[in-house]
Amino acid sequence: MRLDILTLFPEMFIGPFDHSIIKRAQEKNKAEIFIHQIRDYSKNKHKTVDDYPYGGGAGMVMQIEPIYNCISALTKERNYDDIIFLTPDGDILTQAVCNEISLKENIIILCGHYKGIDERIRNSIITREISIGDYVLSGGELAACVLVDSILRILPGVLNDETSALSDSFQNNLLSPPVYTRPAEFKGLKVPEILLSGDDKKIYAWKMEQAIARTQKRRPELLINNESD
Ligand code: ADE
Repeated sequence: MRLDILTLFPEMFIGPFDHSIIKRAQEKNKAEIFIHQIRDYSKNKHKTVDDYPYGGGAGMVMQIEPIYNCISALTKERNYDDIIFLTPDGDILTQAVCNEISLKENIIILCGHYKGIDERIRNSIITREISIGDYVLSGGELAACVLVDSILRILPGVLNDETSALSDSFQNNLLSPPVYTRPAEFKGLKVPEILLSGDDKKIYAWKMEQAIARTQKRRPELLINNESD
C-alpha cells in the first residue's frame, strides 16, 4: 500500500511514523509513506497557501491551487483509489471503514488547517471525507496519524501474531474480552481460574461471554448493529 500525505506540517509525522506498528509496516515493505509539503506547490513567490475567505468571516482558508498542483503531480504518476480529506464534518472513522481502506493500493490523505479548505477542492478532487470523532482538532495531521495507524496495523503480515488484529475490539462489532498475564496472583488479585485451566474450548466460550457482556454494558448499540448486519 502506498500512502501520500499532504500537509503544511510534515514534522508532525516524524515521531508517530518512526515507531511501533507504522515503522514496522514500512520496514516489512507492507506500506510506503510519502509526506508532501503543500507549500512547495505554491507558485506564489512568498509561498503562501492560504487567504482570507470570500464574503468575510474569521480565519484563513487554504487555497485550491497548491493542493491541486500537488495532487495533480501525484495522479500523473499513478492511479489513486481514494483521495481522502480529514475533516470534523466527514464520515466517522469506524473499524469497518479502516478495513475497507486497508484493501486499497494507493491513497492520498489531505490534512487541512486554518478555517478549512476552499470548498472547490472538496467538490472536485476529494473522493472521501473522514472525521476521527465529534471534536475539532487544530488540523488534520493528528487525525491522519490515527487513520494511518488503524489501517496499517490490519495489513496482513504487519502484526506478528496474524490473528491479533482480527481479535481487536470492534472487529465483529464486539469489544475485546479482558486479558491477564503473569503473575497468576498479585496481592490477592487473582486471574480467572478458567484461563489457567488449559481447556481451549471452555476458554474460548468464556472469552466470547465476556466480550458480549462487556459490549452489552459499555456499548449496547454495537450489539443492536450486529443483529441488523
Ligand atoms: N480536523 C480537525 N478536526 C478533525 C477531526 N475530528 N477529524 C478529522 N480531521 C479533523
